[in-house]
Order: sequence, then C-alpha cells, then structure tokens
Amino acid sequence: MSKKRDEHDVGLKFLQQAFGLSSLHFGLFTEDQPYNLENLRKAQVNYTSTLVSLVPDGVKTVLDVGSGLGDISKVLIDRGYKVEGLSPDAYHGEKYLESCGKDAVFHLSKFEDFRTDTRYDCLLFGESPQYIDKDAYFPKCLELTNPGSCIVLADFFQKHPGDVYPKCFVESDFVARAEKAGFRVDYHRDITKEVLPNLEVARLFLAYGQKLFAFITDTLKRRKRFLWFLANLFYGRRIRRVHQILHENSPKWLDSARFEENMRYAMYRLVRPA
Ligand SMILES: C[S@@+](CC[C@H](N)C(=O)[O-])C[C@H]1O[C@@H](n2cnc3c(N)ncnc32)[C@H](O)[C@@H]1O
Repeated sequence: MSKKRDEHDVGLKFLQQAFGLSSLHFGLFTEDQPYNLENLRKAQVNYTSTLVSLVPDGVKTVLDVGSGLGDISKVLIDRGYKVEGLSPDAYHGEKYLESCGKDAVFHLSKFEDFRTDTRYDCLLFGESPQYIDKDAYFPKCLELTNPGSCIVLADFFQKHPGDVYPKCFVESDFVARAEKAGFRVDYHRDITKEVLPNLEVARLFLAYGQKLFAFITDTLKRRKRFLWFLANLFYGRRIRRVHQILHENSPKWLDSARFEENMRYAMYRLVRPA
C-alpha cells in the first residue's frame, strides 16, 4: 500500500458498520424489490455488476478511483482485469486489502494528488467524482490515460447549480468539461428512478435513529440529571449537532421528491479517442 495522507470519513464508516454494508454506493433497485436492508444489499451488488459491465472490451488495466471497501475492484479482479485501488482514507485501504488480497495494489491518496508513471486503460469512479476537485478532475484523467483509454463512472449530479448536494458536479457542466478535455460520451444511462428506493430505506433507519436519540436524551434528562448536565457541559455542541443532523439535515437529504427534482443519478462511459 503506497501511503500519503489519511482522510478518514467517519460518516461512511458509520453507515458501513451500522448496516453491515460491503459497498459504499447506492443500490440499483428493480421494480419488484420491497424497500428493506436485505434488498439494499442486493441492489448494491446489482449496481456493481452493472457498472463493471460498462468496461469495454480490450481494457486490461483499471484504476478504481475512490475505491471504498474494494467491492468493485474485487469484481474486476475476478473478471481478470489488472486493478489498482485509490482512496485518501486509510480505513478504506485496510478494507481494500482484506477484500482484494494482501498483494493487491492500493494507493492512499486523493485523486488530485496522485502521481505515477502508469497510464491506465480505464479509470473507474463508483460514486466518487463528487469528492474530487472539479477543476482538477479532467486534467488528472488526461494525465493518467492514453488516447484510446476510457472513464467509466456512476454518480449523482446536480441538474442545475443549487444548494442540494452542492458538492456534486452540475451534469451539463460535467459533460462540457469532459468534451473540452477531449472525451466523448460513449454511453449514458439515467438511473435516478432505480436509486430512489435507497432514500426510502435510509428514511426507515433515520426514524429508528431519531427515536433512539430521543429515548437516550429524555432518560438522561429525567433520571440522570447530573450526567445530562455534564454531557451538555463537555459535549453540548456535539449533542446539538447530532440533533441537527437527525432532525434537520438528514430528512432533507433523504427527501426523494427533493432529490428527484434537483438531482440526476447517472452512469457514463467516456472515451478518449485514439
Ligand atoms: C461514496 S464512497 C464510494 C466507494 C466505492 N467506489 C463504492 O462504490 O462503494 C467514495 C470514495 O471516494 C473516496 N474519496 C474521497 N475523496 C477522494 C478524492 N479526493 N480522491 C479520490 N477518492 C476520494 C472516499 O474515501 C471513498 O472511498
């Protein structure tokens, strides 16, 4: 594992551990699947195999950018590709080697900062473009590929610039940047409808989280007043932050009507002409 700087994502780690997930991306639901945790896991497997199937014939080497727990790389390795993973999160590095084998190649680095002489046939991004600096994204893609190489990606995009998931690329801007850098859109699929059930499943768990938080704080307030006083004294800001996340931010993030109105979830294959 080559090392640079660890950027630990506690939110992603919590989701993975609390729900026993082996992927950190949305799931691709089919119409007949009821909204529950078991089907979320199945939908994640469906998403991974759908994304991997977009890697075109002739590709031998793949850089899995924002490789998370290594589930996408594992599928690629099993299909015979030569794969390297990359993420700035050391916990993801550990999980990557557990999933892909201790001899697998993992780079602990942000995409923007990654330096290598290797050029890859395919750069694959599973829900990771939104984490990457927008101005650095395509220049780095050019640096790490040769003419004839491709980019395969899935992510959610803003339909128009706004304050709903503002970290994400605006889709029209993303395509314009791709074309300006010399990439051609070879494949596009809108999967918004098929990923909306993820928000419904998450809302079920949010309701449990809200109840649990209310139960703990109410119990402390009523029965352990001194402990509640100390908790507020030392962790008051954090407690208010958790309350805000549970009752203000998360309900907005998980509002599927709001998501559908403002966002589009898409899979793309971009080709750099030979
Ligand atoms: C939502 S997770 C997706 C993980 C995995 N691709 C998957 O589909 O399950 C985003 C991943 O991008 C990584 N990441 C965050 N910032 C990054 C950056 N600047 N460059 C590369 N990867 C980054 C995170 O550490 C994480 O592994």
